[in-house]
Amino acid sequence: MAQNSQAPDTGALISLVEKILDSAIPPHLLQVEVGEFITVLGFLTNGNLEWLPDFSAEGSVTASGLALAPDMAATCADDTIRTVMFLRGTRTAIADKHSEVSDRPVRILYAGCGPYAILAVPLMLALSAEVASFTLVDIHPESVASAERIITALNLTDAVFDIKVMDATGYLADPDFPADIILTEVMQACLQTEPQVAVIRHLLSQFPSALLIPQEVRIDLVFADPAVEYFAGHRSAQPGSQDGRIYSGSVFVLNREAVFSWKNVSGSYLPGLSVEVNHFPDDRYQPMLFTDICVYQQYRIGAYESGLTCPRMLESAEKISPRVQLHFQYRLGDNPGIFIAAVE
Ligand SMILES: C[S@@+](CC[C@H](N)C(=O)[O-])C[C@H]1O[C@@H](n2cnc3c(N)ncnc32)[C@H](O)[C@@H]1O
Repeated sequence: MAQNSQAPDTGALISLVEKILDSAIPPHLLQVEVGEFITVLGFLTNGNLEWLPDFSAEGSVTASGLALAPDMAATCADDTIRTVMFLRGTRTAIADKHSEVSDRPVRILYAGCGPYAILAVPLMLALSAEVASFTLVDIHPESVASAERIITALNLTDAVFDIKVMDATGYLADPDFPADIILTEVMQACLQTEPQVAVIRHLLSQFPSALLIPQEVRIDLVFADPAVEYFAGHRSAQPGSQDGRIYSGSVFVLNREAVFSWKNVSGSYLPGLSVEVNHFPDDRYQPMLFTDICVYQQYRIGAYESGLTCPRMLESAEKISPRVQLHFQYRLGDNPGIFIAAVE
């Protein structure tokens, strides 16, 4: 798409978005379109992704996990299947909510928008401000300033209720913007390191009836051969599939029911699930954690489809022997993650 003039070609951008949102097109075939869209956003921020003087290479460590630096956060947009699935899932969630509240826009609170607000800007282009209204939040002022530049350049300010620099774990409900949808992707595979759990837990306490995007993140314990996994790669992770993996069970689930069940849990740990290890295959097999994301309804991201769903080796695997029960927990705080809390 030619970008030599100052004014962006909004019509061409909308055509790209229509293609990206077209569920008939498999997401992995949309790398060029997503890349083209991001190039335009980069252009609109004046290519200003060199904002880093005050950041460590990775980002800012907060009390609830690592917040990726703006340039790192920008690279998330390139994770094509992730970006497409989040956009399609959010678009469907907005349509569902809109059918309930058709007399006003659906209110979407997007926490951790990053410098491109990539999970919102395409939807602002595709939907009118009467259908969807967004509040954007990011902890990094440079990301918020960049998102603001893009929104202004694309004439999308009508679709934005508010845009704030703040830690989303401290966001307080605005009486004029009771969110219908909480949209957040501040996570890594296995819900490690970044504050997805803390952010969702806090925001859902502010808006208990809001839909969550992603609707569910599930972490499963799987015995698999890392040599096959990491070198064969890019296979689907259906429990019980014929790929040599042995599925042991889910160890942690993040969805609205789980969050509500933690209501009275205080302190630094959340309960996970327990798994019995019945099979103990030969030494080639290692315990691994697989992440499965249900963005919304049929919009899912399975193993290897995104950086967010790359299987990881389970730490403390030495505790595992045949016929034990493993009890998992989730550690909150500045280095969040799943761990084996007890073995019986
Ligand atoms: C993984 S990046 C994702 C960026 C963008 N949402 C996307 O999907 O491409 C996470 C973003 O969330 C922001 N973030 C992380 N923790 C946050 C927090 N506690 N409050 C607000 N923003 C946060 C980071 O600054 C970063 O821009």
